[in-house]
Amino acid sequence: MSAPTRPTPAITARLKTGGDCLGFANKLFKSAGIAHGQGFVNAEEESLTLMGHATGLAWEKLPSCFKRALTVKEKAAFLRLVERRVFDRVPTGYLVGEAWLGGLRFRVDERVIIPRSYFVELIPEAIPQWLPPLAQVTDVADACTGSGCLAILLAKHFPKAHVHATDLSAPALEVAKLNVAEHKLGQRITLHETDTLAALFKGPKFDLILSNPPYEPEGIYRGLPAEFKKEPKGSLVSGKDGLDVIRKLLTQARELLKPHGILVIEVGGLQKAMHQAWPKLPMMWLPTEDGADCVCLLHAADLRRELPSPGARSSR
Ligand SMILES: C[S@@+](CC[C@H](N)C(=O)[O-])C[C@H]1O[C@@H](n2cnc3c(N)ncnc32)[C@H](O)[C@@H]1O
Repeated sequence: MSAPTRPTPAITARLKTGGDCLGFANKLFKSAGIAHGQGFVNAEEESLTLMGHATGLAWEKLPSCFKRALTVKEKAAFLRLVERRVFDRVPTGYLVGEAWLGGLRFRVDERVIIPRSYFVELIPEAIPQWLPPLAQVTDVADACTGSGCLAILLAKHFPKAHVHATDLSAPALEVAKLNVAEHKLGQRITLHETDTLAALFKGPKFDLILSNPPYEPEGIYRGLPAEFKKEPKGSLVSGKDGLDVIRKLLTQARELLKPHGILVIEVGGLQKAMHQAWPKLPMMWLPTEDGADCVCLLHAADLRRELPSPGARSSR
């Protein structure tokens, strides 16, 4: 693939309408081979999002600029964003400062990973099937909360629950705090700067512990496209085999769940590694639309039976 070239004054002079500019951006995105997957599925979604930011038009109003000439300011703003996306590989979510998940808007910047979790599909129906009725779910935890997006979705879905959300990263929690405030959930979500679930041992036991932890093995991280390396490394990588945080989650959840409680973890490509690490632990893989099925549901009783209790000594 030949290296993409920056738009010259002659090229940009020919771009008049919003449609011209979008067509130009889409071609450039494709020739540059930018990677999607940070909340977008293709070049068109990314260019339209950047156009919305440059023109101030809401998503549903964007067609109104397809055939009209952009103002000088709008065109310059759009092309600047396109250049940063292509040549600096800045993810679109950071360029526009927001991301959408489950119909909700979240602020994002370089302090947090851009929301794109499978939990958006699973929180409304698949997960509640394994819990008491909604009104009886009172204690929920979101480990590794990042922008706070999943804690906020959980608080909205379980109206009687208090949500404890944790993250090891203080900068990430600053963003989570902004999002919790914007969604007016300060009374229902408590943020904790802590390793996995460590700070939650003083509080209540949980009906549900959910986590989208970092799970990439070091080696996989090294091969990721450049835009993914703009996200905090600690939000993606978890040791040599990707399982470091998951190991802690299982051990801590064993102690923190109510007897009927469940732990639900998104694990990316680690299904096989999970079965190898805990061969006797029953794991249910929740089906997702694209067939990835990479969210694992574990029951408190199984964790207690199959994982050693923290005080247990080896028999040898
Ligand atoms: C994959 S991101 C998920 C963020 C958010 N839940 C989402 O779905 O967008 C993982 C998050 O885990 C945090 N993290 C990494 N190691 C951690 C640990 N040991 N304890 C708590 N949080 C951790 C990172 O800072 C990052 O915000």
